[in-house]
Amino acid sequence: MILYTNSLKKREFDKKGPQNFCSERATIVNRQGASENENSEAAELRKRSSGPFSREAGEQSELARRDPTQSKTDSASCLCINAKNISKSFKSPTATTILKNISLEVQAGETVAIMGKSGEGKTTLLHILGTLEPATEGTLEICGLTATSSNWNYLRNQKIGFIFQAFNLLEDYTVLENVLMPAKIANQDAHERALELLQEVGLSHRKDFPAKLLSGGEKQRAAIARAFLNDPALILADEPSGNLDHANSTIIYNLLLGAAQKRGKALIVVTHDSELAALCQKTYSLMDGELR
Ligand SMILES: Nc1ncnc2c1ncn2[C@@H]1O[C@H](COP(=O)(O)OP(=O)(O)OP(=O)(O)O)[C@@H](O)[C@H]1O
Ligand SMILES: [Mg+2]
Repeated sequence: MILYTNSLKKREFDKKGPQNFCSERATIVNRQGASENENSEAAELRKRSSGPFSREAGEQSELARRDPTQSKTDSASCLCINAKNISKSFKSPTATTILKNISLEVQAGETVAIMGKSGEGKTTLLHILGTLEPATEGTLEICGLTATSSNWNYLRNQKIGFIFQAFNLLEDYTVLENVLMPAKIANQDAHERALELLQEVGLSHRKDFPAKLLSGGEKQRAAIARAFLNDPALILADEPSGNLDHANSTIIYNLLLGAAQKRGKALIVVTHDSELAALCQKTYSLMDGELR
């Protein structure tokens, strides 16, 4: 799930409602249509997977077939991201190609850092991998599902957790409410899990604080708990420690990597810090539109 909330006030969020509160960049798609399709697709998949036919026949359920992360036994070998020949061009203000023919595979449990100079397209690439922005060319599979505008919202809410440099918390909501937001969007009760995650990131004592009263490091720890709430297969982090001092950066990286590895998540993190990148299993550089 994704929340872009730099200047968001509680009143504005309440007015829009959680389902409509998506990335500004993501409004490129028909959000209304996507949401309806996504809900019907998820419901259809659940209905089929719980039906007697697939289970009793001992076959892999439709849900597991199309979404391997639903099968716990397969999760270790799950290809969480399979991006092929991704290119991205902008037409205005001047025609530019930012990403050229990028292919990337990330397995469950893998930690990957993407480095590169400012303006090379790291955020753009992460947004494309996170279905926040469409690629100009190429294909993207998340957990075996081909990403299309009809399942973007489903993928964002159920399969992908985002962490941003600017935290993007709802500042007038409490820490607990922020962490619970992905479950609220999915109409699920995750209160216990939210409390467990807050304990894991060391924020139990701040759960009833409005997010705006937290320090930068605390905000990012809350954002990490929020990203993990719906148990997504893939965690995407865009310079998660970019606004923090070195001590807090290290805490955030250790938490992020620890939580991802403990749960077998695929983690892609964009960073300028080679020391932090070195903590990941693989490091790529984005340069001249190519990933090397
Ligand atoms: N909607 C857009 N239209 C035109 N150009 C854009 C658009 N969005 C991004 N760009 C351009 O794409 C390039 C890459 O931007 P991006 O934010 O992905 O870089 P980055 O590598 O994340 O940089 P930084 O390290 O500073 O965060 C920049 O030159 C930016 O101006
Ligand atoms: Mg960026």
